[in-house]
Amino acid sequence: MSTTFEPGWLALREPVDHRSRAAAAMSLLAPAWRAGGWSRIVDLGSGTGSNVRYLASRLPGIRCWTLVDQDADLLARAPAPNGAEVTRVVGDLAGAGFDAIRESDAELVTGSALLDLVSKDWLSALVGACRESGSAALFALTYDGAIEWHADEGDPRPADGPDDSLVRRSVNAHQRRDKGLGPALGPMAGLTGEMLFRAAGYRVWLLRSPWRIGTGDAELARALVEGWEAAAVEQLREATPEGSHDVDRVRTWAVRRRSTIDSGRFGLTVGHLDLLALPG
Ligand SMILES: C[S@@+](CC[C@H](N)C(=O)[O-])C[C@H]1O[C@@H](n2cnc3c(N)ncnc32)[C@H](O)[C@@H]1O
Repeated sequence: MSTTFEPGWLALREPVDHRSRAAAAMSLLAPAWRAGGWSRIVDLGSGTGSNVRYLASRLPGIRCWTLVDQDADLLARAPAPNGAEVTRVVGDLAGAGFDAIRESDAELVTGSALLDLVSKDWLSALVGACRESGSAALFALTYDGAIEWHADEGDPRPADGPDDSLVRRSVNAHQRRDKGLGPALGPMAGLTGEMLFRAAGYRVWLLRSPWRIGTGDAELARALVEGWEAAAVEQLREATPEGSHDVDRVRTWAVRRRSTIDSGRFGLTVGHLDLLALPG
């Protein structure tokens, strides 16, 4: 049930993740960080440390990192930013993750590309753990369900057809499957997090951080088409045993979209949200 992530995939998405993150989240967080004299961070679902690399140069005086991930090989690749103490915890976010929040005295609990994998129960428990410890929360790059093709890079007009819609719907249904922490919120995770943190008395910002992909990101675009094809086919096969016509449509779609990418003229937007919650 738990999902594994290839280091190659994480490396491919990291530059696009970093350039897509909402700058406003840092403009809002940095003053609170400085004013509070904060210095300790827990990063949940760290992978190879993309979020560490992003935050280390943007928040001054980080003294302690606690990085939690179930995958020891990924975690071993995470950096140890200059001068900071780094604790790597190999374990599940439902147990070790909450223990880390309770035991680390962290003022900031964070994660990137994580919230769409979690269930509402897990997210409620996360909000409770943050509130108990008085920590702020920053969860970046939560997929929001939007996938839009464009005729060219920089052209905001959608150029989607019915098969693009079929793939998007099937992928989004697949996103709601259990990824190891209960039925996943998928595209609903950003809005659900906003609601739960607000109900817990936090000041909350939900900011757009879409991937805007073009010809310079062809390798990432190809990997997305491959992943979406596999997810959509799996979803359609299970949802409708008689759905072979739709499976054929997805296979044909993937061939067409690969040639769109190979043509060197395309744009692709994948919606993401960054959630910042500061104690009220
Ligand atoms: C999409 S990756 C994101 C990694 C990294 N934060 C980044 O932005 O590149 C999700 C990470 O969460 C970890 N993860 C997912 N479910 C987990 C669980 N139940 N317990 C611990 N780690 C988990 C995975 O091993 C993976 O490293």
